[in-house]
Amino acid sequence: MKTNSFIHNYLGEQLPYKSSILEIGGGEGTAILKVNHRDVTVIEHDPEYLDQVEGVKYIHAPLTAYYNEYFREATLWYDPSKLQGLPIYDAIIIDGPKGTQGRGGFFSNLGLFRTELFIFDDVHRIWEFRLAGQVAKHNRTEMILHPAGKRQWFGVVKGHRDAPLS
Ligand SMILES: C[S@@+](CC[C@H](N)C(=O)[O-])C[C@H]1O[C@@H](n2cnc3c(N)ncnc32)[C@H](O)[C@@H]1O
Repeated sequence: MKTNSFIHNYLGEQLPYKSSILEIGGGEGTAILKVNHRDVTVIEHDPEYLDQVEGVKYIHAPLTAYYNEYFREATLWYDPSKLQGLPIYDAIIIDGPKGTQGRGGFFSNLGLFRTELFIFDDVHRIWEFRLAGQVAKHNRTEMILHPAGKRQWFGVVKGHRDAPLS
């Protein structure tokens, strides 16, 4: 379940230790992020996975119903009212909610997030691939595909630190 180590290695190469990382969907891998980067924040819906790593800031955002025409199969996402006023991050990892719950709500709420580096885990799966593609299209750029391992693909999309908040 944890973010694949290819992403941790990639971020370690791209960003210095002092970087700020927002991880959407926490778990065992959060501890690795905290070792590699000083400033880690996690958005998590499940109380079981909150406050697992010392020094990490956890935002509890329960899943709530939403609708997006493009991502019709995904009907739940984090409550956006819990995600207002987030700062600019050096990188944002999209690894939650679970693939079975769907991640399309990230696209509906893209205006909440500001970073130069969006990292989409699990883009070997069609809905995650489409999500990364939609964000890339929105940002007028392309998703750079990292086809690592058998099922450890991730996608990188450049963002804009100063994108207006919605
Ligand atoms: C893909 S996991 C996120 C994994 C996390 N990014 C990591 O590197 O450990 C997505 C969601 O599954 C849940 N989860 C985390 N660890 C889990 C585990 N070991 N088994 C089952 N569910 C888990 C959490 O609610 C999390 O938000």
